[in-house]
Amino acid sequence: MKILNFGSLNIDIVYAVEHIVKPGETISAPTRALHAGGKGLNQSVAAARAGAQVIHAGNIGADGAFLAELLRDAGADVSHLRTLDVPSGHAVIQVDKNGQNSILVCGGANRMYDREYIDAMLSLAEPGDFVLTQNETNEVPYLLRSAHAKGLRVALNPSPMTEDIPAWPLECVSLFLVNETEGEAITGKNTQEDILAAMEERFPNAETILTLGKKGAVRSLKGQRIFQKSYPVKAVDTTAAGDTFTGFYLAGLIRGETPETALNKASMASAIAVSRPGAAPSIPLRKEVEDAL
Ligand code: RIB
Repeated sequence: MKILNFGSLNIDIVYAVEHIVKPGETISAPTRALHAGGKGLNQSVAAARAGAQVIHAGNIGADGAFLAELLRDAGADVSHLRTLDVPSGHAVIQVDKNGQNSILVCGGANRMYDREYIDAMLSLAEPGDFVLTQNETNEVPYLLRSAHAKGLRVALNPSPMTEDIPAWPLECVSLFLVNETEGEAITGKNTQEDILAAMEERFPNAETILTLGKKGAVRSLKGQRIFQKSYPVKAVDTTAAGDTFTGFYLAGLIRGETPETALNKASMASAIAVSRPGAAPSIPLRKEVEDAL
């Protein structure tokens, strides 16, 4: 079993700042760093470092060769990545002294998916495989429908949340990975339990992982709940914490771990990522996670 990830790849331009810039304000940043990122890339890196077989479906520009290289070094199959005649996606990220961030994403090549490519990539999937996607790419509704029609397991991390997502064919999804903001946007509910109950009512066969930041995470499926604590760390950079969680959780399921074990490792992996700078470079190997537990 494997993960076929239709995911964004971004060049992250990261500024360390005293505080996140406010509207109308100009501040200066003493440093600028370039990192590999993009929710899709980060999730593939996490899943691969957690030991899963991952095929990454995505687009970069000529400026994105280092993104493909990092993904390959992490163990993901990048042989189907396309290099297009447009700039790679990029993100402008401010990270403050508490490790909190603010992210502006510019889609670039990530917004150049076409249906022929999606169909061709889906033909690589086999029963039991997960198709994973986020919301930094285009044609996601087509992908959800097509993957579901092929009988594949579809995992959706609806991030970043946009107004159109609640009207997507979400009934095609078998695993949602959402934070509270995303859960509220999909269900219209604003407490943990109400969000989970509404997800179960609307998607009775789907599993939902609701991530709660420092409060941990909850998994719900058919009325059953599993609570997962978070592991406290000194936050250096929270970028890619959620992506790390997603990749490790999926990889755990594919490796045959129980949801409890997969959640626990995902939580530790995410804590380790938060304790380090950068997006993809901060994501640990499975051995580091297991040693830390
Ligand atoms: O989730 C973190 C990611 O969001 C960053 O790496 C950035 O590229 C944006 O996509």
